[in-house]
Amino acid sequence: MHNKPTSAIAHPNIALIKYWGKRNKALNLPATHSLSITLNTLVTTTSVSFLEDLSADQVNVEHQPADVNFSQRVSTCLSQFRTLSNTRLFAKVDTSNNFPTAAGLASSASGFAALVTAANAALGSPLDTRMLALLARQASGSAGRSLFGGYAIQHRGETNNGSDSFAEQLWPAKHWPLEVVIAITSTAKKRIGSSAGMLHCAKTSPYWGNWVEQSDTDISSAKAAIEARDFAALADISEASCLAMHAVMQASRPWLLYWNAATVELIHAVRSMRGAGLAVFFTIDAGPQLKAVCLPEDAAAVEAQLTSVAGVKRTIRCQLGTGARVTS
Ligand code: DP6
Repeated sequence: MHNKPTSAIAHPNIALIKYWGKRNKALNLPATHSLSITLNTLVTTTSVSFLEDLSADQVNVEHQPADVNFSQRVSTCLSQFRTLSNTRLFAKVDTSNNFPTAAGLASSASGFAALVTAANAALGSPLDTRMLALLARQASGSAGRSLFGGYAIQHRGETNNGSDSFAEQLWPAKHWPLEVVIAITSTAKKRIGSSAGMLHCAKTSPYWGNWVEQSDTDISSAKAAIEARDFAALADISEASCLAMHAVMQASRPWLLYWNAATVELIHAVRSMRGAGLAVFFTIDAGPQLKAVCLPEDAAAVEAQLTSVAGVKRTIRCQLGTGARVTS
């Protein structure tokens, strides 16, 4: 059972209500609730095999040995599986993305969702979905959400050990099949990763306390808007959550700015499209890409207009996707 190579795929998700901050760094417990949509089109594929003859985990990204930092994060995650399923075997892991890594397209979310799904299957599926969501979250706070398709929530949780800080599905994609157009403005790796950025903001941003407090209200407003399929209400609350997160970053000392000039042009473009009657709003993560969320009937027009904004290298159109799953 332990040496069967197993592959899983997972899609990135994008948060409409943002996770930014940790209430416990060691357990990677989020300081805020977050709510996301899982996308199709973008895919991480990960294969895992636990092997007798390895003396350490071997991690490849795009068929090359992974950097030390990523290898350690993968190994820490796999060690939890070893403890919980009582094996001492190390694993060979191969992971690849069909999109740029670490550029604000949530590669760590799909990466760790695919990893826990493949590792569990390779060990004969000893862990249930709740436990996989806890392990994915511990590896990366946005990863638990990518275990689920459609609309997912990552609960902040209240307990010190994080047992109630799990992700789960709120609605499947068919509840409200929104579309997303991603405008890529740069494929360079970001200078400061999310984990470091969050810790820096918590330490130095004067808006930190307000940001964390606001999360409870924002999550309820977003759930109500999605339940009622109220696009205007979801647009308001999502843009507010996104811009509040970036305000926290920009007010930190020294300041943290993930946008480039094209990101700002895109924000204005989305606002004027909405003014002209298209159902579209934006969200932006810890990178310079803009994600335009829209109703399916407006997606083609939104994509055409975003393509023509100065500095946009290309666009990627996505529907809502499914959760992580074993493929072989
Ligand atoms: C801006 O999940 O990458 O995309 O838990 O430190 O791995 P770690 O952080 P990560 O942070 C994602 C932050 C965000 C917002 C979001 O996805 O909610």
